[in-house]
Amino acid sequence: MTAPSETVLEAEGDAGGDAAAIDQAMLAEVLAGLAAPRKTIASKFFYDAEGSRLFDAITELEEYYLTRAETAVLQQQAADLAERIGPGATLVEFGSGSSVKTRILLDALSGLSAYVPIDISGDHLDAAAKRLAADYGLPVIPLHADYHAPLELPPQVPRDHLLGFFPGSTIGNFEPEDAAEFLRRLRSFLGGAARLLVGADLQKDPARLEVAYDDAKGVTAAFNMNLLVRFNRELGSDFDLKGFRHEAHYDADLGRIEMHLVSLRDQTVTLDGQRIAFAAGETIHTENSYKYTLESFGALAQRGGWRSEASWTDPENLFSVHLLIAA
Ligand code: AVI
Repeated sequence: MTAPSETVLEAEGDAGGDAAAIDQAMLAEVLAGLAAPRKTIASKFFYDAEGSRLFDAITELEEYYLTRAETAVLQQQAADLAERIGPGATLVEFGSGSSVKTRILLDALSGLSAYVPIDISGDHLDAAAKRLAADYGLPVIPLHADYHAPLELPPQVPRDHLLGFFPGSTIGNFEPEDAAEFLRRLRSFLGGAARLLVGADLQKDPARLEVAYDDAKGVTAAFNMNLLVRFNRELGSDFDLKGFRHEAHYDADLGRIEMHLVSLRDQTVTLDGQRIAFAAGETIHTENSYKYTLESFGALAQRGGWRSEASWTDPENLFSVHLLIAA
């Protein structure tokens, strides 16, 4: 990463954008991130409608092995998992993204009491819930909530035999300390008799990791650049889309892929009347995606109040799925 330049923040005239429609919390967070000595933007801002569409496209890419590898592990281990869980569990999914993976569990687990998908996106959640309820003849109780915030299970959810499901290596997008804290929160939310099934991407050859986050078709680049498109549209900023490029690199010491938007020249961007200076080569750090080993993930789980009951990987050892039990 190149040395950041000093950020210039000075008042200007009208910033553009419709003030009434601007999400002030998002604006404040983006401004604070761009005023920091090392500019950052939180990865949660990737997921507007276009970002979610691009992320779905990423999961289908040849280079992005994560989704295929996790699906393969779940398919291969479904019978073992079902035997360990036993009948009558309630499946609680955090971020009900891919119903392909959910369906593997719904097919395998016998006599489920209910399925509780938790997602911030209401429409998507309700549509998926209706389909699954019809296909499986199962009580599906969607919970519209941000699972990063404190959660409460709806009163009608049976709580004696809970199985949490957090797939996709989304745990890798948390800083390790935040991941441990998140696991502790899931532990108290699900209770002392619960289990948790978590997908975590594995450390591997940096070249393999880097192409997964910088694919030949440029879908991940578009996903990263969409942040600037979104801020121009929703916050009235004037990022020049030709003035930045996508970059992804693996930091082997920290065990993480970093995504950045690199400024191609010295330039100034205006956001909410503030002028933000970029030096050529300076970056906005947009995402970390931590990669674990089986051992380091086990240690993380322990710090989060869980112990590992079983861990599985795909035949190429690309991806891991961990069945955790409340410690
Ligand atoms: C959502 N999350 C697990 C993805 C990842 O692999 O860290 C987000 C992503 N970023 C670029 N490609 C995919």
